Amino acid sequence: MKYINIANTDLQVSNIIMGNMRIPQLSLPEAENLIRTAMDEGINFFDHADIYGKGKSEEIFSEAIQMNSSIREKMILQSKCGIISPEGYFDFSKAHIIESVNGILKRLKTDYLDILLLHRPDALMEPAEVAEAFEELHASGKVKYFGVSNHNPAQIELLQKYIPHKLVVNQLQFSIAHTPMIDSGIALNMKIDQAVNCDSSILEYCRLNDITMQAWSPYQHGFFEGSFLGDIERFPKLNEVIDNIAKKYGVTNTGIATAWITRHPANIQVVLGTTKAERLQDACKGSEIKLTREEWYQIYKAAGNIVP
Ligand SMILES: NC(=O)c1ccc[n+]([C@@H]2O[C@H](COP(=O)([O-])OP(=O)(O)OC[C@H]3O[C@@H](n4cnc5c(N)ncnc54)[C@H](OP(=O)(O)O)[C@@H]3O)[C@@H](O)[C@H]2O)c1
Repeated sequence: MKYINIANTDLQVSNIIMGNMRIPQLSLPEAENLIRTAMDEGINFFDHADIYGKGKSEEIFSEAIQMNSSIREKMILQSKCGIISPEGYFDFSKAHIIESVNGILKRLKTDYLDILLLHRPDALMEPAEVAEAFEELHASGKVKYFGVSNHNPAQIELLQKYIPHKLVVNQLQFSIAHTPMIDSGIALNMKIDQAVNCDSSILEYCRLNDITMQAWSPYQHGFFEGSFLGDIERFPKLNEVIDNIAKKYGVTNTGIATAWITRHPANIQVVLGTTKAERLQDACKGSEIKLTREEWYQIYKAAGNIVP
C-alpha cells in the first residue's frame, strides 16, 4: 500500500480509500469483514456521506467495527454534507452544515471528523455563511480539515476567498470509462466532443494548488450505470486490453483499473465502492503496479478516446 501526504495537513493517507456508499447492502458481519480486510491491507482512509443509505452507512460502519477510541485512532474518517435527499436539492447554509456534522459524528460514534467535504456545489451558497460554519466546527474540534467534492476551480476560489482554512481535497468522478478531467487536455483545440472542457481544467487546478484529488466510482461508467469491467458487450476492446495487461502483471481487471488511476502523477486517491473483500484486495494489489506510459495510453485509447 502506498501512502501520500494530503498537502497542508498532517495526514498520511493510503492511496486507496474504502468508500461506504454501498455498505447498507451488507449484513453487519459482512460489513465488519470488509472493513477489517481494508485495514489489514493498509487502508487507513474511509469515505462517507450523510446521505449514504440516509445515514445508515455511517451507522452500520461504526456498529460493524464496534467503534471505540483505539479503532478511531487508526482511521482517517471523511464525510460529506450539502445534499438534501431524497427531496433533491443542495443546502450549504450554516445551520444545515452544523446540523449535518452533528448527525455524522453521532452515527459514526466519534468526536471528530478528519475531513469534511461539501458534497456538490450549492448554486445558492453564501460563502461567508459556509466560512462561519467551518469556523465553528473547527473551533469546537469537530472537524480538522475541509474540502469539496465535484467543484470546479472558480467555485473553489469563491469559497476560499472567505474560508480561512485551506480546502485540501476535491473528490471527483474519474475512471477509465469516465475521463473528462483529462480528455480536453489531450484533445486540445480539436473539433471533437473529447475536446470539450467540462470542468475548467480542474485536474490542473488541483495540482497547481496542492489540492488532493479523490476518484469516485473508479470502476463505473456513466452515472452509476454499472461497471465497465467484464462488460464485454459495451466495452469489448477495453476489457480485452485490460485483461491482457492484467495477465502480464498477474492481477485481476480490478487491479488494472485501479493501477490506471494511481499511475497518474497527481497522486489521485481511489475511492472504491466494492462490497466484496476479495475485490478490495485485488484493487490494493493493483495499486502497487506502475503501468508503463504505453500501457496507460493503450488503455485510454481502448476506452474509445483518441490520442491525436
Ligand atoms: N463525491 C461523490 O459525489 C460520490 C458519488 C458516488 C460515490 N462516491 C464515493 O465513491 C465510492 C465508490 O463509488 P462506487 O461504489 O460507485 O464505485 P465503484 O467502486 O466504481 O463501483 C462499485 C460497484 O462496482 C462493482 N464492481 C467493482 N468491480 C467490479 C468488477 N471487476 N466487475 C464487476 N463489478 C464490479 C461493485 O460490485 P461488488 O460490490 O459486487 O464488488 C459495486 O457494485 C462510494 O462508496 C462513495 O464513498 C462519491
